[in-house]
Amino acid sequence: MSKLFIGLMSGTSVDSVDTVLIDLEEDNIQLIGSCSYPISGEIKQAVFSAVKSNSLSIEEISQLDEKMARVFIGAVQKILSKEKKDSKDIIAIGSHGQTIKHSPNSPNPFSLQVGEAKIIANSTKITTVTDFRSQDITAGGQGAPLTPIFHEKIFNTDQKKKVIVNIGGITNLTSIDPSNFVFGYDTGPGNCLMDIWSREHIKKDYDEEGNWAASGTSEEELLKIMLNDDYFKKNYPKSTGPDYFNLNWIYQAISKCERKFQPQDVQATLLQLTVKTLTEGLLELELDNDEIIFYCGGGLHNKYLMDQIEKELEREIFSTYELGVNPDYLEAISFAWFAKQRIDGRSFELSKITGSKGKVFLGTITEPSK
Ligand SMILES: Nc1ncnc2c1ncn2[C@@H]1O[C@H](COP(=O)(O)OP(=O)(O)O)[C@@H](O)[C@H]1O
Ligand SMILES: [Mg+2]
Repeated sequence: MSKLFIGLMSGTSVDSVDTVLIDLEEDNIQLIGSCSYPISGEIKQAVFSAVKSNSLSIEEISQLDEKMARVFIGAVQKILSKEKKDSKDIIAIGSHGQTIKHSPNSPNPFSLQVGEAKIIANSTKITTVTDFRSQDITAGGQGAPLTPIFHEKIFNTDQKKKVIVNIGGITNLTSIDPSNFVFGYDTGPGNCLMDIWSREHIKKDYDEEGNWAASGTSEEELLKIMLNDDYFKKNYPKSTGPDYFNLNWIYQAISKCERKFQPQDVQATLLQLTVKTLTEGLLELELDNDEIIFYCGGGLHNKYLMDQIEKELEREIFSTYELGVNPDYLEAISFAWFAKQRIDGRSFELSKITGSKGKVFLGTITEPSK
């Protein structure tokens, strides 16, 4: 008997909703289907301005909660019709939600995702699991990254040490070592700063293949100031978000420099910032040559970025395709899996990943109204 789950992931890039249908019978993970569901320009703008805002009203949050729920419902309908399934065939949806604020280190720590579970569950008539990060934060953790648990589950199968790197809006790495505990953390910005700078200067959602960055020159002085940010000096557990690494953050760094810069040179510098902060984290792992780094996330499509990482590490780039998982859907698959864990009543010990204490349940279950 198959056990079908839907996973929905809209990351900090707000590019689209990665949508998967998976079969988790006996905990074997089989990807049945996937699709990318678009987010309208109007909703993207609303999310970006909410991420930027320091004074969101309750009305604004509830409006976004509803608008994003409608987007997620559209994504569920699309995958159901594409795969010719009915809502009755699906055990649950794991919906990460759209992150608006991720503040694990504030005096009252929280992580806010929108996409109201009750609206999704009632409209789709499918049990919906959301809000995966809050309980971990309540237990003293960062609430992120959570995917290292899933990476260990599916990739720790061959007694080989390996690393999984996800380059989304933010970059995070997972170290999997069969003779040690798994750990992971956010190394810093992935695509988010390059995306913001592209929107600001070339009116594009992102820098296609990194061509614009490649047309500029990384500015040493600016890069040094950026690298001096306290976030990069912190030891893990640590996590961050685009509410921290934002346009203001870029302009502040520029204002500390004596010279003025061309926009394409700033873009080249932002790309180098992603490269340096990630590769420093990877070099600290002191991997042997046969211990491989596997990449996933949209950053893999940024050719210039991946070329620079390859050059810096002097290591060939491999994607999670080599491990049998489509790198564009790994995160969505993981939240479908997390939904199953929550429904099965499984809790996790995350002290080495997020820094939380004790066992933590990830997610809140919402049933459709009868
Ligand atoms: N062809 C491409 N060239 C350059 N960058 C790309 C390309 N395709 C995707 N990206 C980058 O990947 C991002 C989306 O990656 P994703 O893994 O979905 O991140 P998130 O989890 O934050 O949504 C885009 O915003 C963009 O920066
Ligand atoms: Mg995305």
